[in-house]
Amino acid sequence: MTIRTRLIVSTFLLQVFSMALLGWGVLAVRRQFQERDMVQLAGTIEMSVERAASDSLIQKDDVALLSYMKFLQVQYPAIAQTRILWKNKEKERTASVGVVRFGSKPRVSRFTVSDPADAQRSVEVDLALDHEVLEAPFQDANKRLAKIILAVWGVTSLLGLLVAYLIARGLTRPIVELSRLAGEIGGGKLGGKLSWESDDELGGLVRAFNGMSGRLEEFDTIKRNFVSSVTHELRSPLGAIESFLQLIREKVAAGTPEGYAQSKDFLERIAVNVRRLSGFINDLLDVAKIEKGKMECVLRPMELPVVANEVCQFFEAKALQQGIAIQNRLAALPPVLGDADRVRQVLVNLIANGLKFTKSGGQIWITGEQFRDGGARWIEVTVGDTGRGMDETDRASLFQPFTQGRNISEGTAGHKGTGLGLYIVKSIVDQHGGKIEVKSVPGQGTRISFSLKVAA
Ligand SMILES: Nc1ncnc2c1ncn2[C@@H]1O[C@H](COP(=O)(O)OP(=O)(O)OP(=O)(O)O)[C@@H](O)[C@H]1O
Ligand SMILES: [Mg+2]
Repeated sequence: MTIRTRLIVSTFLLQVFSMALLGWGVLAVRRQFQERDMVQLAGTIEMSVERAASDSLIQKDDVALLSYMKFLQVQYPAIAQTRILWKNKEKERTASVGVVRFGSKPRVSRFTVSDPADAQRSVEVDLALDHEVLEAPFQDANKRLAKIILAVWGVTSLLGLLVAYLIARGLTRPIVELSRLAGEIGGGKLGGKLSWESDDELGGLVRAFNGMSGRLEEFDTIKRNFVSSVTHELRSPLGAIESFLQLIREKVAAGTPEGYAQSKDFLERIAVNVRRLSGFINDLLDVAKIEKGKMECVLRPMELPVVANEVCQFFEAKALQQGIAIQNRLAALPPVLGDADRVRQVLVNLIANGLKFTKSGGQIWITGEQFRDGGARWIEVTVGDTGRGMDETDRASLFQPFTQGRNISEGTAGHKGTGLGLYIVKSIVDQHGGKIEVKSVPGQGTRISFSLKVAA
């Protein structure tokens, strides 16, 4: 049985049962009142009979008692029979009014009334009350009430069924939808989300599910990007190394002086590809460390301009080759707290990006500015370029591993890379307790700033 059916049946049964209990309670209370009323009525009849007997004895009018009994019988049909026994000294006389219905079991009560002036005169009355007739008007009223209760019960049961269905449907609809979406995700169709707005537990469940589905889709994209990046980044330098090795083998076999000279050039190109491979593997190791939370930076006072100078010198030849000017515009700055190797890695990544996305004739620079935040002194280091910049969509996906912007498809001076640089950069800046910020205008350039704390 589905949860929806179970909810409908149990809510409906509960409602039917409680209505039945309520109806039974109303009838039971009414019955108690009726019994009290019946006893009162019987008492009234008995009192009237007794008083009439006493009056007739005092007035010495036996006929009046008989006609009063007939009158009472008309007024109270519950009086089945009255038997009267007059006693006067030794003489006795009887009379009876009405007959007892065949098969009925009347309740008989006896009254004996004596004449206060003559103790030898008395009247004895046996009053037989037919219980069924006494009860009849009460039972009629009860039947009418039971019919009303039954009608109300029927209507409320139908309404209850409708309400139970609506409640059950409202509760189970998102669950049904969620299980359908979970099935789709299980079948490999990721990213499905459910539109459901409510502040209750179901709303919370749907929000958590949507978040999970979004994260799964992100992980899947990262996984796919990872596989294609790893395949590409391993295959292309390895392919190049293989071809250069083959060429060297041929040149060495020929044994000519030009062959040896060319082989030297090929060896240089092999060295470039080996550097590219080891750089990629180092990046992968860094990502693994970040994911495990084991990327640790040892913070010590360090001279930022010195590190920036080293990095500029490292890229000087490449920049010259691309026709780009690199400037270290860092003026004298107080030492900052940082891990020099990791800060170097940040600057290398940012300048490598600048070189990748800037055309010949462009510029790349490093600047630094002091500022205060929360009582501490910081330095904001900015790496700027006059390159192609990036649009809103590209900016939105920055700092995700194995994710590159669409602007990469416009071509780059060197190899395309894998989309790990800024992810690693952000993790390093986070480890230094700093913040990273990107400003970029398509076609005009990019400025990426990060902050480092000034050493006390
Ligand atoms: N200076 C920049 N100018 C324009 N776009 C940039 C710049 N820096 C980063 N980007 C955009 O951000 C993306 C991510 O940069 P990131 O450094 O993480 O990866 P990558 O440079 O593509 O590859 P990798 O750094 O692994 O070689 C880039 O693909 C590019 O779209
Ligand atoms: Mg990069």
